[in-house]
Amino acid sequence: MKSVAIVYWSGTGNTEAMAQLIAEGVQGKGGKADLIQAADFGPGKLDAYESFAFGCPAMGDEELEDSEFLPMYDEVEPLLAGKPVALFGSYDWNDGEWMESWEDRAVGAGIELVDSVIAKDYPDDEATAECMRLGALLAE
Ligand SMILES: Cc1cc2nc3c(=O)[nH]c(=O)nc-3n(C[C@H](O)[C@H](O)[C@H](O)COP(=O)(O)O)c2cc1C
Repeated sequence: MKSVAIVYWSGTGNTEAMAQLIAEGVQGKGGKADLIQAADFGPGKLDAYESFAFGCPAMGDEELEDSEFLPMYDEVEPLLAGKPVALFGSYDWNDGEWMESWEDRAVGAGIELVDSVIAKDYPDDEATAECMRLGALLAE
């Protein structure tokens, strides 16, 4: 059974809803999913998991949330080289540029990028299916 860490920050619940759908996808494949707030995660927790999903909405100007999520992510990213990682998050008024930059930096750090999912506001039917698919991929 694979253990998957789903680590996220969410201001108004949209990215949190995505995290819960990803967890359902993991569980549907018989995996174990832990939902963890960004502020509660760090390098000491990496060894407990085989794969990871990191979620953060577009904040600032197409940036990751910088008080809780980014400091945590900056710390763990170099330690995730070679590990399977998925990225996800919600956005509203732009078209997902923050996720493109995030994917680029993750791949540049040597992460094995499984896939990414973005949702405009609360996940609609299509984003729901994508989140569940992502969870299933992480559990494989
Ligand atoms: C301070 C702030 C900055 C934001 N910046 C962006 C942005 O640069 N691009 C964008 O598409 N949406 C932006 N948004 C919209 C959020 O990404 C969107 O509302 C998202 O659904 C929030 O997800 P959450 O419910 O998980 O917090 C911003 C929202 C806030 C509050």
